[in-house]
Amino acid sequence: MNETLKTIHNLKSIREFSDKEISKEDLEKILNASIQAACASARQNYSIIVVEDEEILKKLFYRANKGLLFCIDYTRIIDTAKYLKYEFCPDNIQEFITGSTDTILAAQTAAIAAKALGIGSLFTNSVHRAPLPEIYELFNLPQEFCFPSVALCLGYAKKEPAEKRGRLTTGVIHYHKHKRVSSEEIDSIIEEYADEKKNLGMTAEQLTKYGVKDYFEFFFTKWTRPRNPERIEDLYNTLTKAKFFRS
Ligand SMILES: Cc1cc2nc3c(=O)[nH]c(=O)nc-3n(C[C@H](O)[C@H](O)[C@H](O)COP(=O)(O)O)c2cc1C
Repeated sequence: MNETLKTIHNLKSIREFSDKEISKEDLEKILNASIQAACASARQNYSIIVVEDEEILKKLFYRANKGLLFCIDYTRIIDTAKYLKYEFCPDNIQEFITGSTDTILAAQTAAIAAKALGIGSLFTNSVHRAPLPEIYELFNLPQEFCFPSVALCLGYAKKEPAEKRGRLTTGVIHYHKHKRVSSEEIDSIIEEYADEKKNLGMTAEQLTKYGVKDYFEFFFTKWTRPRNPERIEDLYNTLTKAKFFRS
């Protein structure tokens, strides 16, 4: 495997960060790599907020050394249009999807660049678990045409996870046309999650802790239910206010 593939295959979420500082040079390298990601129409429909405030890192970034908040952001291009006296109003779902794609590609590129420099990372949607008006205020985000998509925590690992979390292989890649999973394939998916060596589902210890027979019982009966209806409503309201969605 070449170095690039090794870096990608060795990506793991880090949830405990040491106090070791990320150097200014390395942070610049990560940010510079991040903005090399592909983007639609050469617009880079995102902004990256670099977070260094300890309290905010503690609250939203798992006490990482640095945080990057990746936001879909059309305000730069809107302001440029206004300045040049053009009309441009990206108030539709297509722009939301495009902006979202640009933003997430930049975010993943930052995670890969960090790993290549020996720096660990964790993606989190912590910003969607907090009331969104508070997040907008905290980071001075424009109410319209800007939306915080995902937070990336960066730092050196205090404790490396023992093993890499596995990935599902059955039914993920489709050649030529989409194909719904067959019942045999579903059995094989269940097996993949049950295989402790694969580290995809839950350990025996975790199953006992949650009193479930397998990952799916945990996922369908505990983890995804009930979703907090208030937070979902907050997301719809925020995206409507941002003009990406219509009410
Ligand atoms: C959008 C997104 C949100 C996530 N949010 C959290 C989170 O809030 N807390 C957390 O511990 N992990 C979070 N994760 C990390 C995933 O749990 C992790 O990527 C997954 O378990 C696979 O493990 P790995 O990254 O070590 O391969 C998130 C990942 C993504 C992509």
